[in-house]
This record gives sequence, structure tokens and C-alpha cells, in this order.
Amino acid sequence: MAKSETMQEHLKHPVFKTISEIADREGLETYVIGGFVRDIFLKRKTTDIDIVVIGSGIGLATKVAARLGNLKVSVFKSFGTAMFRYRDTEIEFVGARKESYNRDSRKPIVEDGTLEDDQNRRDFTINALAISLNKHNYGSIIDPFNGLLDIENQIIRTPLDPLITFSDDPLRMLRAIRFASQLNFHIEEETLKAIIQNRERLSIVSGERVAEELNKIMMSARPSIGFKLLDKTGLLTDILPELQAMKGIDTVNGKSHKDNFYHTLEVLDQITPNTDDLWLRWAALLHDIAKPVTKRFDPVHGWTFHAHNHVGEKMVPRIFKRLKLPLNEKMKFVQKMVYLHMRPIALIEDEVSDSAVRRLLFEAGDDIDNLMTLCEADITSKNRERADRHLRNFKIVRRKLREIEEKDKVRNFQPPVTGEMIMETFGLAPCQQVGIIKTAIKDAILDGIIHNDYAEAYQFMLEKGRELGLTEASKK
Ligand code: CTP
Repeated sequence: MAKSETMQEHLKHPVFKTISEIADREGLETYVIGGFVRDIFLKRKTTDIDIVVIGSGIGLATKVAARLGNLKVSVFKSFGTAMFRYRDTEIEFVGARKESYNRDSRKPIVEDGTLEDDQNRRDFTINALAISLNKHNYGSIIDPFNGLLDIENQIIRTPLDPLITFSDDPLRMLRAIRFASQLNFHIEEETLKAIIQNRERLSIVSGERVAEELNKIMMSARPSIGFKLLDKTGLLTDILPELQAMKGIDTVNGKSHKDNFYHTLEVLDQITPNTDDLWLRWAALLHDIAKPVTKRFDPVHGWTFHAHNHVGEKMVPRIFKRLKLPLNEKMKFVQKMVYLHMRPIALIEDEVSDSAVRRLLFEAGDDIDNLMTLCEADITSKNRERADRHLRNFKIVRRKLREIEEKDKVRNFQPPVTGEMIMETFGLAPCQQVGIIKTAIKDAILDGIIHNDYAEAYQFMLEKGRELGLTEASKK
């Protein structure tokens, strides 16, 4: 176990000294507790400090903040907590408490308590560690549930009977899975069983809190750990049944398709080293989401998932709405990625033509690099030679994308001849012919028939108009 002398190394933040002095002066037992202590042993950086006081947390916070330079304190009277910001750190104070719960709410009934009561009410042994800040035992660790040993053995376990801990606050079931995913820890057997038994209790947790934990799983180094646990505990059925539906392999006439659940998780794990963009990671999770609903067996072609990109794109808003994820341009980005995810691979299966590259650039616009990152992660073939060939070909596509963009600037291109110009030239009111000419000009540019240039496009418009039997307004 770590010694108090070595702990003092970690209590260098100037705020601890001030808290210690004022706590001693006021005769208050005071500890730093929770995530901050856990993260010392995990060697993770934290910017949040939780202080627990045997007495009034608000009172101590106010005095410490005054001493540190009249800092502004936010007081949450009904929770008995107070917090302030000092440099880049948020420090929250709470009076030690004992909690009991109602069955239909995550809101506890709170009474004053001892340090022991306070540690008992915490979610996991690794989060229940406390370090004393009073002078006589400054830096000593109070670890009643062997949290340090659990950190060493990489175990998530509740301090008390897990059935009670999870029934009290079902959000903790998701927190257990999230910590397992973030830290690559193992959920202890009884704790895991209790999650399975309490899975229905998740219904009292707000969608926003579920989304927050899901996003933390998504941002961990190996999100598959979290999603496999969500599946194993049954929570996935309630949270993301569409993903659950991807599990399994069907075989007809000796032909099987791959398990799309595990494939998806592999794609997600493969994309994480290449992007910290939460939404690109969501796109990786949802790229094949419509495979179960589009799955057919065709005696000639075998298993098909016709238009699963298009159906998937349409499923995204429903999923985002249910999960309380933002229904804004982030969602649109995910939809776009889902829709386009098969395009680059289709490109490399044929000869990589300039025209196909130009069309892809046009449709993906500024998201082209993200799309390529997604497609590279989507290669999960166990055949090394095949996977390497695909990756090599994607390198060629990336190079061609760069070359063509430099040459033709089609990434965010707007056709140089607008609908209004077409109407004006031929003296037309808005009608189908205007659209036909406009599309023809865009296609001519993307197919490399003409350059992305006003004069060439104008000329092309005149020819197209003539083909349609139109006369220029000036010649009428
Ligand atoms: N806690 C708890 N039950 C919860 C949430 C929090 O027991 N549902 C306790 C844990 O002791 C936790 C502390 O409150 O360590 C602080 O919670 P929070 O700041 O939400 O989480 P951290 O553990 O600090 O981790 P992170 O910042 O990664 O969320």
C-alpha cells in the first residue's frame, strides 16, 4: 500500500495546503476522495477534486475560497455541496453523508454521516478511496474496501452488496461498464451478475445520462469492451436494440454472412487510434446499422444487404433522438458518413477512374478525409493479403483525391452556371428543362468532359439547350 509520505507528492496542488490549514483551525475532519485519488494510482491526469468534510462542506468551501482570493463559490444548498474553480481545477466540497433511496428515483434521501458512511455510499471500491488532509495524518489513505488492490488487479467491484448499490442508483451499471472500457478493467463476477439482475432499473435513468456514459465508452481506447459488456448484461437491448440485432450468423445452402455486430466493433476499435472525433466514431458504430433490416438471401448472389447505406442513413435520426444525441450538423455528418461508407471501396474494386474520384470528392466535400478514415477502418478481412491489398489501394485513392482536388477544385464546387443563368439565357420560367441542363453541366464537369470553368460551362449549356430544342432569348 502507498505510504503517506509518497502521497504527499500528489497533494502538491496549492489548494490542499489551504484546505488542510482551515480544516484544522475549524476542527473539521477533511479528506480528498473519489476520482482524484483513484487517478493518482492510475497515473491519469484529473482536473476535478472532490473534498469530503465531516461537517458542513459549504462552510469549508466558503472559507477556503475566501482565503484563496475571494473566489466565486457556487452553492447547491439542496445537495449540500459547494464548488469553485481555482486555476484549471474544479474543487467540489460536500459534507460526509449517508444515503438511502426510493425505488423510483435516482435522488437519494440524505442524512449527515461519517467518513465510513460516505465511503459506503460510493459506487466502486476504486472510487471510495480517501486521503486525509488533516495535519496529524496528512496523506494517509483510508481504503476500507481494498480499492488499491482492485486497482492493482484491474477490477471493478462495488463496496457493498452490488444488488443494493445498483438498485440505489442504476446509472452505476453503465458507469461500471464505462470504467471497464476506459481502464481496460474486469467487472467482478457478483458485480456483473447484479447488473444483469437489475437491468430493468435502467428505465429510471434519464436519456441524457445514458448518452453521456455511451459517449465516454465511445471515446475509450477500446470501445468494444464496453459494447460487449452492454451486450452481455442485456443493457444493449434497451439502449441500442438496432446494434443487438446485428449479432449472429445465418447460413443458407452452406453460405454464411459475417457477424455484423463483431465486425462493427472491430471497425470501431480500428478507427479509435486514427480519430478523436466522437461523431466519426459514432459513424463507425452505425455504418452497417441497416444490415439486419436489408438482409436477403439470393440463390445466385448469396447474402445481400441492398441499399443498407441508404436505409442506415434514414435510421440515424431515430436513434439519435432516442439516445438524446444532438439532432444538428453532428447528426447530419454521421448520416453522410453512413450513406457514403461504401463508395471508396466500390472505387477500388474497379479501375480507379478520375471521374469516379471527382464524383466522390464532390459528394463528400470537406468530409472526404473522415470518410477515407472510416473506410480504412472498415477493412476487417482476416485474409491478410486481401486486407493489405485494400489498404494499398486506398492509399492510391487518397493520392488521386489530392491530385484531382488540386487540379479541378471540385471538393466544394458550385456549378459555374446557375439555374437563373439558364432561365435567363433561354427565356424560361422554372421548369424541368432547367434542371436537366443544370445536371448535365454538373455531370460534364465531374466526368471531365469540360473543365470547372465558366466559359466552357456556358458553351456546354448552349449546346445542351439546342439539343433540347431551346432557342436563346436574344435570338427569339
Ligand atoms: N459517484 C457514485 N455514484 C455515482 C456517481 C459518482 O458513487 N453515480 C461517486 C464516486 O465516488 C465518484 C465520485 O462520486 O468517484 C465523483 O463522481 P464523478 O465526478 O461523476 O466521476 P469520477 O469518478 O470522478 O470519474 P469521471 O470524471 O471519469 O466521471
